[in-house]
Amino acid sequence: MFLTYFIAIFAFASVNAVAPRVFTRMLENKIVDNISNVLLDLEKFDPYTIPTLNFPVNDGSVMAKDVEVHGLSKITVKGLKLTVIPPVVAIAVAFENITVSIGEYSVNITTDFAPVYGLGKLTLTSQNILLSCSGAARFDPLGVTDLKIRFDLDTFDFNVTGLLNNEEFSEIISSVISDTVPGHLQKHGAMIGQMVAKPVEEIINGLIPN
Ligand SMILES: *[C@@H]1O[C@H](CO)[C@@H](O)[C@H](O)[C@H]1NC(C)=O
Ligand SMILES: *[C@@H]1O[C@H](CO)[C@@H](O)[C@H](O)[C@H]1NC(C)=O
Ligand SMILES: *[C@@H]1O[C@H](CO)[C@@H](O)[C@H](O)[C@H]1NC(C)=O
Ligand SMILES: *[C@@H]1O[C@H](CO)[C@@H](O)[C@H](O)[C@H]1NC(C)=O
Repeated sequence: MFLTYFIAIFAFASVNAVAPRVFTRMLENKIVDNISNVLLDLEKFDPYTIPTLNFPVNDGSVMAKDVEVHGLSKITVKGLKLTVIPPVVAIAVAFENITVSIGEYSVNITTDFAPVYGLGKLTLTSQNILLSCSGAARFDPLGVTDLKIRFDLDTFDFNVTGLLNNEEFSEIISSVISDTVPGHLQKHGAMIGQMVAKPVEEIINGLIPN
């Protein structure tokens, strides 16, 4: 939805041929203000709570109760850069401290490797997640192309209890996930970004009325 707004501005700016830097700077500030206002609105969703979640799976069940997401009010726009020629938009959004907690989960599924079951709690905390996106504006039809998304984060703490009804196993899994996720993201962040870029681009372009 933000990108819809950017693209409208690109279209406007390009009609005005050579938009001076002052003009794009003004637009940047306006957009940052606008997004900041939208983000401020997120405060009423902090914490965001979901009483129960059920995930349909082929062969078993996955359920979560008392799901809470904390930290939605601590999202800031770190950088926004517009250029009209070529028409490119880049934006970085920072999530200071996101915590997802599940008061009680239960899982019982069969995978190709082994049955996975358990009943317990799950907490995930991540600090300084930086989501950087950049893309080019396309005018006919109106939309974005070549969207690039990159993830970075400082810390990632994962804690699950009750997996395979075994606390020792749960602790090992928790520390393995906590230790390996940041490295994986660093190594494969660009690849993960590439995987999600196309669907995200399609969603954005789908939202833009032509
Ligand atoms: C963002 O800008 C649009 C267009 O100027 C305006 O309609 C909307 O109210 C603004 N939203 C916020 C939250 O400032
Ligand atoms: C991060 O958020 C969680 C949940 O709101 C809180 O318990 C924790 O103290 C926060 N950590 C930092 C470093 O702000
Ligand atoms: C998981 O589901 C299977 C088949 O429905 C059942 O036999 C088994 O007892 C369940 N295990 C647990 C731990 O609930
Ligand atoms: C994981 O969570 C459980 C209960 O929610 C808690 O007792 C335990 O101390 C936590 N472990 C770590 C390493 O934070």
